[in-house]
Amino acid sequence: MAKEAPPDAFGNSAREYELGRPQWPEELIDRVVADLDLGADSTVLDLGAGTGKLTRSLVPRFARVIAVEPDDEMRAVLDEVVPGAEALAGPAEAIPLPNDSVDAVFTAEAFHWYASEESVGEIVRVLRPRGGLAIFWNVDFGDPEPPMGDEVERVLDDAFAKGGAPGIGKVLSGFWREPIAKAPFEPLRQAEVERMVTRTRDQWLANMLSVSSIASLPDADREEVAQRLGELVPDVEYRWSIRTIAYWTRLG
Ligand SMILES: C[S@@+](CC[C@H](N)C(=O)[O-])C[C@H]1O[C@@H](n2cnc3c(N)ncnc32)[C@H](O)[C@@H]1O
Repeated sequence: MAKEAPPDAFGNSAREYELGRPQWPEELIDRVVADLDLGADSTVLDLGAGTGKLTRSLVPRFARVIAVEPDDEMRAVLDEVVPGAEALAGPAEAIPLPNDSVDAVFTAEAFHWYASEESVGEIVRVLRPRGGLAIFWNVDFGDPEPPMGDEVERVLDDAFAKGGAPGIGKVLSGFWREPIAKAPFEPLRQAEVERMVTRTRDQWLANMLSVSSIASLPDADREEVAQRLGELVPDVEYRWSIRTIAYWTRLG
């Protein structure tokens, strides 16, 4: 079986994560928010919030936004860049909130790291009656334009072979549906958007270095990947298509 990159890799790369990862598409968030009947007076939780890439889109929408993130380095960046959220330390398996305390739980690029009966039980516990669960993933990245060349592909393939498969394989396997199906949620709904983002060379490099399997490499290996990519990737602006899927449901 393919080796899996560990979820605790992210702290190694919190700054790169913040620089490189794209924000979440506002129109998809709007769609989910409307369907879950959330409003300006709602309290929501961003679970596995990282540096707050999704949190920053939630803060202007809701009265209270709580961001739970177990990794100290990721949470330190979140505190700095999303001061409007209340950042708390903790894992999805023991959410540091009382019962019935939030109208919705959001999770972006994170649910596959903790999808279990234990964490879904925690989500159900903190949700108010009819509360919502919204899950976002970027599922498909096109080839950057202009192309970066075969050697860049080779460096990345070698890094993934050493560091383990990126988390996307877990997302696509669909294993995460099972604990949701066992909980008292309505059937999942879904929608997707495809968008084009522009990335500077530094943003693209930072994004790659923040991918869990590369972020989890020993420092020397990671620095070698950074140096090789730095030599190979021309300093131009790249266009990158990203397909993002949202799944959402409510307590029945
Ligand atoms: C790929 S990052 C996503 C961060 C952010 N939600 C975003 O939209 O970019 C995955 C995050 O999940 C967090 N994570 C991993 N295991 C977790 C767990 N058991 N409970 C809560 N968060 C976890 C990691 O620390 C990391 O910050």
